[in-house]
Amino acid sequence: MNEADAREYLDARVNGWKTGNRADFVITSAFDGRFLGAINLRGIERQRGLAEVGFWLLPDARGAGVASRALTWVSDWAFGVLGLSSLVMIVDGRNESARKVAERAGFRIDRLTRRELDGEVVEDYTYSLSRAARSG
Ligand SMILES: CC(C)(COP(=O)(O)OP(=O)(O)OC[C@H]1O[C@@H](n2cnc3c(N)ncnc32)[C@H](O)[C@@H]1OP(=O)(O)O)[C@@H](O)C(=O)NCCC(=O)NCCS
Repeated sequence: MNEADAREYLDARVNGWKTGNRADFVITSAFDGRFLGAINLRGIERQRGLAEVGFWLLPDARGAGVASRALTWVSDWAFGVLGLSSLVMIVDGRNESARKVAERAGFRIDRLTRRELDGEVVEDYTYSLSRAARSG
C-alpha cells in the first residue's frame, strides 16, 4: 500500500463517521492496549435500520475469542446506540472461522448465493441478526 492508498483508506473511514454511513473501530488488548484488529459497520441506513458488518484480526490475535466479543459489542452498539433493527454479514462459505464468529455472536444464515471464481463454484453465506433476536 503506498501513501495515496493509505490516505484513501483513512479518508473513507473518517468520512464515514462524518456522513454516518460507516462506523469503524479498532480492537485493542484490554491488557496492554496492543492493536489486535478492526471491526466496522458499513452501508449504514438509519431510515431502514440496516448495516453490514465486517472485521479482521492480526494473525497473532486469533484463537482467543476476540472477534466474537467485538462482534457482540458492535451489534449491541448498532442496536442500542444507532437504533438499527438488523445487521447482515456476507461470508465466503470457505471461511470457516468467520462463520463460527458469526454464529457465536448469534447471527443466522439467511441466504446462500453461488458465484464462479477461477472456474470453481464458491458459496457466499449471508448471515443476519435482528435486534429482536438479540434481545429476545
Ligand atoms: C475471521 C477471524 C476474525 C476469526 O478469528 P478467530 O480468532 O477465529 O475468532 P475469535 O476471535 O472469535 O476466536 C474464536 C476462536 O478462539 C477460541 N477461543 C478461545 N477462547 C475463547 C473465548 N473466551 N471465547 C470465544 N472463543 C474462544 C474459540 O474456540 C475459537 O477457536 P476455533 O475456531 O478453533 O473453535 C480471523 O480468522 C480473520 O481475521 N480472518 C481474516 C479476515 C476475515 O476473514 N474476516 C471476516 C470477513 S466476513
